[in-house]
Amino acid sequence: MTIQTPSPIDLIIVGAGMYVCGKGTGNYGTILPTAFEAYRKGLLHTIHLTAATRKSADLAKIKADELAELTKIKPDIRFYPKKNDDPKAYLTAVDKATHPCAAIISVPDNLHFKITKDFIERKIHVQVVKPLVSTVKENNDLIELKNKHNVYGCVEYHKRFDETNLKLLDIIRQGTLGKLVHFRINYSQRKLIPTTVFRHWVETTNIFQYLGVHYVDLIHFLTGAKPKRVMSIGMKKYLTDKGIDTYDTIQTLIEWESTENKDIFVSSHLSSWIDPDVTTAMSDQRIEAIGTKGRYRSDQKSRGVTLVTDENGCEEINPYFCQFYHDLNDRAMRIKGYGPKSVIQFLKDSADIISGEKTPSDLLGLRATFESSICVSTILEASEKSLMQNNIWVRIG
Ligand SMILES: NC(=O)c1ccc[n+]([C@@H]2O[C@H](COP(=O)([O-])OP(=O)(O)OC[C@H]3O[C@@H](n4cnc5c(N)ncnc54)[C@H](O)[C@@H]3O)[C@@H](O)[C@H]2O)c1
Repeated sequence: MTIQTPSPIDLIIVGAGMYVCGKGTGNYGTILPTAFEAYRKGLLHTIHLTAATRKSADLAKIKADELAELTKIKPDIRFYPKKNDDPKAYLTAVDKATHPCAAIISVPDNLHFKITKDFIERKIHVQVVKPLVSTVKENNDLIELKNKHNVYGCVEYHKRFDETNLKLLDIIRQGTLGKLVHFRINYSQRKLIPTTVFRHWVETTNIFQYLGVHYVDLIHFLTGAKPKRVMSIGMKKYLTDKGIDTYDTIQTLIEWESTENKDIFVSSHLSSWIDPDVTTAMSDQRIEAIGTKGRYRSDQKSRGVTLVTDENGCEEINPYFCQFYHDLNDRAMRIKGYGPKSVIQFLKDSADIISGEKTPSDLLGLRATFESSICVSTILEASEKSLMQNNIWVRIG
């Protein structure tokens, strides 16, 4: 039997910020290094990297040149806009693409809806960084549109690819924990994220929408349960003192109902972005699941690898999210981890649809589809309502 490899496709990346190529950091982000790896695997023909400004496109080119040196991979990359600043440069890339395309959208949250819609209307498969959108209406509109155009749409929820979470999925499915009672999540990042990295758009989102959503999606993924009611309470102290009008922390309680047997359990999410910049990792994250027969605890910051140097003090490294490793021939670096896995899966799925191997409706299972994101959008909308209305419990549906 011969196994057909789908032909390489073009990839349009929208955004050239921290998550795409490590803008403002000494690193390379997640999306662009993964695109290099996908090119090496023969999945991609041309990469179109689209920013809104010429300056961002130029900075992305510097990162791409450094990546080419590091990985010894030289993909064909086109940068946009070429001359003047142009927030619609991604549409120019659509016109310039010479092969069937897929697109990855990694721009500030409030632009996700419009740009995703533009791609779907052009029949281009899309992966959107989280959160897909923040309202149920926009989420439903995108589902309707992608169905109309027979396009595949998914969200880049990479925690679904982390083995520590896949282990928990299996433990829950086996019934090892008994009946689920409570999930407790602590997830925080350094002050530099709201004060520097996202300064220009930080007030259009909040810490629960930006960070907390990861584990909201994860609980839905792990349990298949649906939210019944949501309550959020936020605190404003540090960031408002710096002239930034957003919450330092948001604590959210969600009551869930199992779709199988109507059993109820609760999750509590403490989301924060005022960790000291000297903390030992960008993200501090822990999840605990308590059931009637047992408890699962996963420290997703302290993965057992610590580096201490005179220059940077103590750092805790997560070797599993998105890191460069030497290749087997010891000639170049390769990006690996559950972040790249989630992006590469999308590219493979898109190539399979384009080659006619699969249809968008074949791509369900454990994937973070637009349909599965309805749960997150519902909770985001309810949380916002709770924050606006004196922290009331908001009933769903
Ligand atoms: N999944 C994760 O772990 C993770 C991590 C960080 C960020 N994110 C998400 O990724 C998205 C981007 O975050 P970031 O960290 O890269 O932010 P960032 O502020 O560093 O970059 C955003 C980029 O989008 C660009 N942009 C804005 N409008 C554009 C347009 N019309 N066309 C092309 N580019 C445009 C900006 O120029 C900027 O370079 C956000 O939705 C964020 O929530 C996800």
